[in-house]
Amino acid sequence: MLGIDVGTGGSRALLIDESGAVVASAVHEHEPFRSPHAGWAEQDPHDWWKASSAAIARLLRESAIAPEEIACIGLTGQMHGAVLLDKENRVLRPALIWADQRTAEECRDLNSTIGPERLVELTANPALTNFTLTKLLWVRKHEPEIWRKFHSFVLPKDYVRFRLSGLRAIDVADASGTLLLDVQHRQWSYAMLEATGLNRDCLPQLFESPEIAGRISEAAAKETGLKAGTPIVAGAGDQAAGALGMGIARPGDVSATIGTSGVVFAATDAPFTDPRGRLHTFCHAIPGRWHVMGVTQAAGLSLRWFRDNFGTGKEPMPAGDPYDALAAEASRIPAGSEGVLWAPYLMGERTPYLDPNARGALVGLAASHGRGHVIRAILEGVAFSLKDSLTIFGELGIPVREIRLGGGGARSSVWRQIQAEVYGQAVETVAAEEGAAYGAALLAGVGAGLWPTVEQACDAVVHVAQRIAPDPQNVTTMQAAYANYRRLYPALRQIFAP
Ligand code: XUL
Repeated sequence: MLGIDVGTGGSRALLIDESGAVVASAVHEHEPFRSPHAGWAEQDPHDWWKASSAAIARLLRESAIAPEEIACIGLTGQMHGAVLLDKENRVLRPALIWADQRTAEECRDLNSTIGPERLVELTANPALTNFTLTKLLWVRKHEPEIWRKFHSFVLPKDYVRFRLSGLRAIDVADASGTLLLDVQHRQWSYAMLEATGLNRDCLPQLFESPEIAGRISEAAAKETGLKAGTPIVAGAGDQAAGALGMGIARPGDVSATIGTSGVVFAATDAPFTDPRGRLHTFCHAIPGRWHVMGVTQAAGLSLRWFRDNFGTGKEPMPAGDPYDALAAEASRIPAGSEGVLWAPYLMGERTPYLDPNARGALVGLAASHGRGHVIRAILEGVAFSLKDSLTIFGELGIPVREIRLGGGGARSSVWRQIQAEVYGQAVETVAAEEGAAYGAALLAGVGAGLWPTVEQACDAVVHVAQRIAPDPQNVTTMQAAYANYRRLYPALRQIFAP
């Protein structure tokens, strides 16, 4: 099974066998995204195709796997991006990707014409600048000459699908991030199309994630080395696919992943919506399942910011991972950082404040504090911010049975322990966290009939590596520190306001 992840930085192709073991993988980088104005983020869809076809070709070459041995292909990728196509399926302009923030006015328009409550009713989500619809509306308003030629749109991974198979299609998980999906009923929202004056023809064909949606065309076979006719499953956006790779499949399964940003993700058996729009409510990559997720904008980024600006405190830099040196400093400081608090709002904040103007703050310093206190406060502050999502899960009655850690936050023993103590329960790591491409390959396995259901695929291949129990005394300390952390944003908001 071949999983393809069309990410932001690059495209990755990953091959797994029937046991779920990774056989080979290859990455090809993308051109960095262009930002012609502050807050804009654009990428050329042709570059995604160039990178993914090159990654596939290299994978086949280096692994020496015969193309006819590949039973099925799964796609995943960065979510929300808008690729605009004309009637002949030619790309009309660079894609506005997930990170693009130019559509605040389109969000305000949607809130005033449709209304925030009705938006949540129709799509389960609020109008956010990240979501695809707002990007289409921006082009319609600001680039009428392009809009005149506009016929349809696809998302980033689905542009690669189009180049692989000629089919314009999408899965319900990725479609959830367009603001055009009736997430509750897992179908396009014709009410949203009508309310925004869009034509039904512009929508890609909709599938459940493990369904077959396309086959490798003769042309794509020539370019990639894959076998013509190889089936491609619908796949999923990177968050849902990444969650599958950590076994987040059933209600009660929750992951907390600290990459550049931080995501707390829960599988649910119904679409739980937050009337205040603080969480995303999307279809999961499993038929009949949904998920909610909360996003911390600057999670791992907080630590990287510290490292880049204040270094490891040792000149020259010690050999090995600079984060290990930082973690060692933090480990010598007691839980609660002796009163130092970090508000990680370096890039504004999504959950729970939905405030692009929020800014970071280091609070509670005394002359007795040193570097270690600051580093530990950063690790704790990021965990507090992720706990904010768990607090909302609690308010909405979303069950949390097990929390699995992913990303850089799972690789540091200090950060793992801090997370267990801040979340107030044991946390787990999984044996091989391979990211979204792995989840896409699992979906391909279900499409090929290797596993009967997505849950069974997860059960067969995901194994818990470690279980980390919190120290009960530290849990009490962290509860008090979290209560103080919660008071930071309301106290500082007036200072952040533009
Ligand atoms: C999810 C999100 C990111 C992108 C980029 O809402 O914005 O995870 O998918 O990878």
